[in-house]
Amino acid sequence: MDIIFKRRSVREFKDLPVEDEKIEMLLKAGMQAPSANNQRPWYFLVIKDEQKMKELEAVSRVLPKAKCAILLLYKNENLVSPGMVASDMGAAMQNMLLETAHLGLGGVWIGLYSADNKTKTKVENCRRICNVPEEYELYSMIALGYPEKEDANHFVDRYDQSRVFYEKI
Ligand SMILES: Cc1cc2nc3c(=O)[nH]c(=O)nc-3n(C[C@H](O)[C@H](O)[C@H](O)COP(=O)(O)O)c2cc1C
Repeated sequence: MDIIFKRRSVREFKDLPVEDEKIEMLLKAGMQAPSANNQRPWYFLVIKDEQKMKELEAVSRVLPKAKCAILLLYKNENLVSPGMVASDMGAAMQNMLLETAHLGLGGVWIGLYSADNKTKTKVENCRRICNVPEEYELYSMIALGYPEKEDANHFVDRYDQSRVFYEKI
């Protein structure tokens, strides 16, 4: 609960690199997520190249400010539950964001997957800049780095009793 309460979207970063070991921990966190029928549809592309991070402004203004990014991808082939891929990917993404906060890093979910196709241009730009082959679908990115502000990850109380029903709705 400590980390769940603390995690926030961080969009301003220090000029400090993120250690490879920490990136690997984030990848482990992602791959530890539950998925429908344990289908684990995920793939991850780590991006550190400064030039690429600048170009990724075409996807989100946050990305050039970040030290690196992880692009979450999936493949549609051989899935037992194709309709549940977005849920699987969301679980992986949240695991990674929680580990980001746990490691003292800051991160933000850059949404790419959208059921109503409203992110089409962003997805196309991202695919081009990151050279993602056609067989991979783009789900989201994490913009990553050490937070500019010490208390960037901090608690805000969002508990809303009016959203909760017991037995009867
Ligand atoms: C599906 C999804 C897509 C998001 N896309 C973006 C995005 O493109 N850019 C961004 O700055 N934040 C994005 N966010 C982060 C939300 O704005 C943020 O989680 C929300 O405002 C709550 O703030 P918190 O994360 O600090 O608790 C996204 C979050 C989700 C779950």
